[in-house]
Amino acid sequence: MRALVLSGGAGTRLRPLTHTSAKQLVPVANKPVLFYGLEAIAETGITEVGIVVGVDSAAEEIKEAVGDGSQFGLDVTFIPQDAPRGLAHAVLIARDFLGDEDFVMYLGDNFIVGGIKALVDEFRREQPAAQILLTQVPDPTQLGVAELDAYGKVIGLEEKPKQPKSDLALVGVYMFTPAIHEAVRKIKPSWRNELEITHAIQWLIDQGMDLRSTVISGYWKDTGNVADMLEVNRTILETLEPKVEGTVDDVSEIIGRVVIEAGATVTASRIVGPAIIGRGTTVADSYVGPFTSVEHDCRIVDSEIEFSIVEHDTSVEGVRRIEASLIGHHVQVTPAPRVPKAHRLVLGDHSRIQISS
Ligand code: G1P
Repeated sequence: MRALVLSGGAGTRLRPLTHTSAKQLVPVANKPVLFYGLEAIAETGITEVGIVVGVDSAAEEIKEAVGDGSQFGLDVTFIPQDAPRGLAHAVLIARDFLGDEDFVMYLGDNFIVGGIKALVDEFRREQPAAQILLTQVPDPTQLGVAELDAYGKVIGLEEKPKQPKSDLALVGVYMFTPAIHEAVRKIKPSWRNELEITHAIQWLIDQGMDLRSTVISGYWKDTGNVADMLEVNRTILETLEPKVEGTVDDVSEIIGRVVIEAGATVTASRIVGPAIIGRGTTVADSYVGPFTSVEHDCRIVDSEIEFSIVEHDTSVEGVRRIEASLIGHHVQVTPAPRVPKAHRLVLGDHSRIQISS
């Protein structure tokens, strides 16, 4: 069995961060989202993994971060997709890589706590034509949605329906036999001009093939937006084993589930967990509150920050207080003068900021 990981996509909901970086590399508890997926695949015993990437700078960043996959015990092949033409299109272009093996398709921006080993084992045992995962969501209109009969069997699937037939959405992990290859060749592009995997699976249903579904009650998120990212980060931080490998001075207070990575320095500060401070980061005269991750080589000085993600090489100096924020890498956050005559802003496209004035 092989794995196909999809890591293209424009990441429009995470702009402006995704103008320059891949959404799959946004860190959760200081580790890229995509790495959790790759670790989950490695746990199933699968070693041959194809990663579908775009042809932009984000793709280069993903290639550099993942390398040949050996850091996960995987053998990774990159498959370029010239434009986001849909999940079923990704299966089409991965035909040679996939050969005639069964495979698990994993969307690189999805997050499944607890991994996928049990699900892949079940698929291997039961050998249906395909197996999908479903989960209850409050608003399924932005996802694929399943319709089930009285026995719980999936009888129909719709992509982003205006009037969903249930609250069971398709999770971004699918298990397929080679039957899917004919399906992706048979379907036509959707209104958004993409070849939808949802339509390909519907084609399998229409042919009378055995489609199984598993409803997962565990936590999952499509990490396409900031609120979801902070939520996933919170959940993972709550599972951290506290550990102090960096330097903490006597006047600092470390409370609760806190990880201070090697080479980090904390002086005259209060850190209330769950929180993680990355290697080489300086925290001085500051308060870092619960559900905060600060990546490596940052400076948090004379500031207060809580429920936020700070990517590497960023400095926050003299600012209180930052909350519910996602701050990219190589960013500088500084206070405005006490009585501002004007705001001076250099903001990326599609930025959203709040200014008190
Ligand atoms: C895709 C699928 C959708 C599924 C979702 C899960 O949506 O088309 O059926 O529910 O992934 O993340 P997209 O990310 O393309 O909007």
